Amino acid sequence: MTHIFAVVNQKGGTAKTTTAVAVASKLALMGKRVLLVDMDPQGNSTMSFDIDVTLLEHTVFDALVHGIPMQNILLSTTIKGLHLAPGNVSLSKTDINLADKDRKQFRLKDILQGLLPFYDYMLIDCPPSYGLLPVNALVASTGVIVPMVPQYFALEGLKQIANSIENIRKELNPGLDITGILFCMVDSRLKITDPTIRMVRDHYHKKVFDCTIGICSKLNEANLMGKSIFEYDEQSRAAKEYAVLVDEILQKTQNGYPGKRTEKELHK
Ligand SMILES: Nc1ncnc2c1ncn2[C@@H]1O[C@H](COP(=O)(O)OP(=O)(O)O)[C@@H](O)[C@H]1O
Ligand SMILES: [Mg+2]
Repeated sequence: MTHIFAVVNQKGGTAKTTTAVAVASKLALMGKRVLLVDMDPQGNSTMSFDIDVTLLEHTVFDALVHGIPMQNILLSTTIKGLHLAPGNVSLSKTDINLADKDRKQFRLKDILQGLLPFYDYMLIDCPPSYGLLPVNALVASTGVIVPMVPQYFALEGLKQIANSIENIRKELNPGLDITGILFCMVDSRLKITDPTIRMVRDHYHKKVFDCTIGICSKLNEANLMGKSIFEYDEQSRAAKEYAVLVDEILQKTQNGYPGKRTEKELHK
């Protein structure tokens, strides 16, 4: 089966794009067939591959709204086995264009359906907002990765995301669950860091990834060069930590469907 992860957090700057690109790249470098879907009007995932977002003929928007076949939209990347469904500012018109359309929350799920035989993993990079883009991503997904920075109000933000995910699970996608909350840009010199991580772990237990991602300036450099962190500097802290994250994701997905609930949970 294809594992599909929405990478979400309604806050900006929590390393959603960095995480989506790193995980997608590493999985592909390990020989998996991977699709990265850029659902953010900022097009940062697309830019990470040195693609000029202003020159794109088609983006995910054209598939979501105009029914353009994904085959006409997908791009190959510098990494073998990694394809990109690019995004740009046109995506910001999605809500308005889909407002009175059928299956407006299921558009991405419907589009990805035909691609499932061709991919082992799909990563969906989401915008820092509510609305139909993240809803479509969550409806299409089997799991959710929530990158967050250990800061003040982190738990409040997390409760909102957990509520949104729970609502989508109840109403639109019964198999959905949080695969993992991922602490990113962790700076252990800050006083707030350890207590915040502890508090979230106490509250969400196994839904928090064991590994964390520290501050690493190489990530910015890799972005500037249009390369994944693994191609740019495999020995960097971020490359090593993201590789550990991918191992953790593989373990979780090998243990079954990422959103799978235990018998006990199902009958609660
Ligand atoms: N672990 C990290 N260490 C240092 N900088 C990081 C790290 N993760 C992300 N960044 C940088 O932080 C900024 C925001 O990250 P990004 O992935 O674009 O967040 P989001 O997609 O959630 O808005 C980018 O400039 C990115 O290069
Ligand atoms: Mg982003």
